This record gives sequence, C-alpha cells and structure tokens, in this order.
Amino acid sequence: MEKAGLMKNATLRQFKVFESVARNLSVTRAAEELYLTQPTVSIQLKQLSDVIGLPLIEQIGKRIYLTDAGQALLKTCREVFDSLERYEMLISDMKGVKAGKLRLAVITTAKYFIPRLLGQFCQDYPGIDVSLKVTNRERVLQRMAENQDDLYVLGALPEEADVVIEPFLENPLVVVAARSHPLAAEKAISAQRLAEEAFIMREPGSGIRLATEQFFAERGLKLNVRMELGSNEAIKQAVAANLGIAVLSAHTVPLEHGSEDLVLLDVKHFPIRRHWYLAYPRNKQLSVVAQAFLEFLQREAKVIGDKYLQGIPGLHSPASHERPAPEPQPAARKARQKK
Ligand code: PGA
Repeated sequence: MEKAGLMKNATLRQFKVFESVARNLSVTRAAEELYLTQPTVSIQLKQLSDVIGLPLIEQIGKRIYLTDAGQALLKTCREVFDSLERYEMLISDMKGVKAGKLRLAVITTAKYFIPRLLGQFCQDYPGIDVSLKVTNRERVLQRMAENQDDLYVLGALPEEADVVIEPFLENPLVVVAARSHPLAAEKAISAQRLAEEAFIMREPGSGIRLATEQFFAERGLKLNVRMELGSNEAIKQAVAANLGIAVLSAHTVPLEHGSEDLVLLDVKHFPIRRHWYLAYPRNKQLSVVAQAFLEFLQREAKVIGDKYLQGIPGLHSPASHERPAPEPQPAARKARQKK
C-alpha cells in the first residue's frame, strides 16, 4: 500500500499553515494570522495534500469544509504542536525558568474571579503568557473535547466525559429582581410562586440555565421565559429595567448585595450551592506551566477566595464553604504530592 511519506516530505510549516486554515476555515484569515500571502497559503496546502494523496479541504461556494482526512490531520496537528509546546516548557523548566503559554477556557461566571488569581500567578511567573477564553458551559466542554486549551473551569461536572476535576471555590446561584419588584419585600418565597413570574434566561448551552431548569423541573414546575440573553451583564440590565427576574451566580451581582437597581430575592432553597471546578481530560498530559497553575490554584484559591467570598451575597459563612471531596485522581494527587 502506498504510504503518505509525511515524515520525509511534509514540513512543520505546512502543518502550521494547514492548522490555521482548518481552525479559521478561511485561507484569508490564515494568511493574515501567519503574515503570509494567500497564494503562499494555498500552495503550502496543495503541497501537503499532494504528499498525503487526499484532499484536506473542500470549498463549496465561499465556505471551506474539512474532509475526513483533513479532520484527522487537524487532530494530529494539535497533538504534535501540543507535544512540542510541552517539550519547550519542559526545557525552560530544566533551565530553571517556568516559561511558556497557559491556555484557559472558563465559563462566564469565572471571569469575575479567575483574573484576580491570574494577576497573582503572572506576578509569580513573569515568563508565562496566559490566554483566557470566556464562554458558556457547552462551548467550554466542546473546547475540552477538541483539546484546545490546557485547563478548563466548569460550574458543574460533565456527565459523561472522563475528566480530572478539582473544586476550588463556591459559585452559588441567587435570584435577582428589580428593587421595585413586588416580590422584593417578601420572605421565604416558594418556587411555585417564583415560577409565576416572567424570567430572563441565559442562552441554551449555559450552565446557569441548565441548573435553573433542573431546579424547577425537579419541583414539577415550568418557567415562563420572557427573554433569552447571552450575557450575565445584559441580564442584570434587563432585570433592572423590570423586564423580569433571573437566576444568576452570586459572583455577578455587585458586592454590596445588589446595586441601587437590583435586589436578591429571599427564595426557599436558594442560594443553590455549586462550585467552580478546574478540569482537564484524564488522558491529557499537562505542560509544566499548566501543572504550575494547578498547584498555584490549589495553594492560593482558598486564601484569595475566602477574602473574595466575604463580599458575595448568599454566602453567610465564607470560611466554612465546604469543598466536596475531590475524587482521588492521579494527576490531582500528583500535583498535591509535589507541594
Ligand atoms: P455558564 O456557566 O456561563 O455556562 O452559564 C456559568 C456557571 O455555571 O456558573
């Protein structure tokens, strides 16, 4: 059988060009990203696909699609680049400096806390560059499945994925309303009463939406959703404008228990107690830099977090926030032993 002869005939540069085209699904964007001309990108792609002996992309109209061979090559490219990056970081570490790139993908609520942690981390390790992607649960899980980042922050455990998880801070859900809302003065509001109100909800794919729907579904209640918005900040504005009430992470509500416009409602069974989890696929090999961040988080999250949680409504005893026992997992255990 004819072999592709990749090792002999393809170059790392061609793989880089292909990865960029495949990720951007655009020759133009890949050319911009790599500071190359479009014809150069097209030639490199053509040469690579000639070596492989199968087309890697298909152009239909203006859109580019990856063929099966292209999909498989994208996965391989990511593994190869990942491995080379890990090697580079290992070498820096051997030379006595922690340097390299840390890629994090986090759910929307974590953006209220992770940058504080990163501030400290970057001071401790000035050679490390960080990229932080903030998106919703579904997209974070998708990025994890595609192995796009080093570490992930989730608000609930993924059901089926085989991942190492480390809970690090409470992330309670509270109910917010406009200060002028009739329920604002009531005590111990029932879920049933709440379900009569118009709700402002996050988009499908959001973890907060999932948790909210589960809470009401468990009580046999269906929500009356008036509006769907893709950001916690936009929801706060809509609630303040009295368009409805919403369930949000306490981290997104201003520290002084609501602004002039927002209040927390006193609802039975709220706050819903949840955690943020640091997660990564069990079969992932962490880079030296990712390992350093994991250890930093295990060391510092509690210290920074306890201070931070004092200002969060819905948490009456910050020091006592119970961490669900993390499962005994090899990578997390290894990180702890190193301390
Ligand atoms: P979401 O997750 O951004 O997907 O809603 C946030 C959370 O679960 O805290």
